[in-house]
Amino acid sequence: MDPTVLIFDTTSEAATACGDRTLELLDQARRERGVATLAVSGGSTPRLMFQSMATRTFDWKGIQIFQVDERCVPADHPDSNFRMLRESLLSHISIGEAQVHRVNGELPPEDAARAYEADICNVFGSEVPVFDVIQRGMGPDAHTASLFPGEPLIADRTGIARSVDATRAGMKDALRYRVTLLRGVLEAARHTLCLATGSEKAEALRKVLTEPYDPLRLPSQIASPDTVWYLDKAAAAKL
Ligand code: 6PG
Repeated sequence: MDPTVLIFDTTSEAATACGDRTLELLDQARRERGVATLAVSGGSTPRLMFQSMATRTFDWKGIQIFQVDERCVPADHPDSNFRMLRESLLSHISIGEAQVHRVNGELPPEDAARAYEADICNVFGSEVPVFDVIQRGMGPDAHTASLFPGEPLIADRTGIARSVDATRAGMKDALRYRVTLLRGVLEAARHTLCLATGSEKAEALRKVLTEPYDPLRLPSQIASPDTVWYLDKAAAAKL
């Protein structure tokens, strides 16, 4: 099923709309099943979305928050996705520590991946976890999560979380080693919201949304049955 594409005049409007829809879907899921699960991405784009979500009146009771991916750095490192999430959202809302599941980026990558996968299985059970909402971003190279073009792990549709060495994608230092959710988890999500903004994403978006399905070359083509793209005009300029 083709993804839905929503285009907003500004970055802020796209981020706010994505955040509001996230809260709406979480509330709907909680009404249906008593709890709701969310996995969020990192990088820089989601910051505005998290800041907007933090301003909303929302009861976080019964919501479990996970990370789509994380750099293998301590939680207070400037490049930590969790640090950005904590600064822009978690420190502004009332949510229990047990409701927040971060990747222990301070561990060696493979240990961090194993620990994170165990945490996920503890919440979901051992089958492929079905998140109510997964919020994803996209790099200028069309990567999503920490699945970069050409990454062999993209073929793994049964695993839950693995460590990745992103050297081949040009990532180094703090950005080199990561832990990421795998394709099968991304595809199983009840709802996927992809937030991409800025002109530097326009060419990748053109390929992802108009070229034949090839997730090894264009990882952001990985989608669940309900996938919606939230774009600003700059990112959508080549569509
Ligand atoms: C990460 C992210 C990654 C992100 C894209 C876009 O750890 O880098 O999870 O998948 O979504 O790289 O990053 P920007 O929002 O910074 O452009």
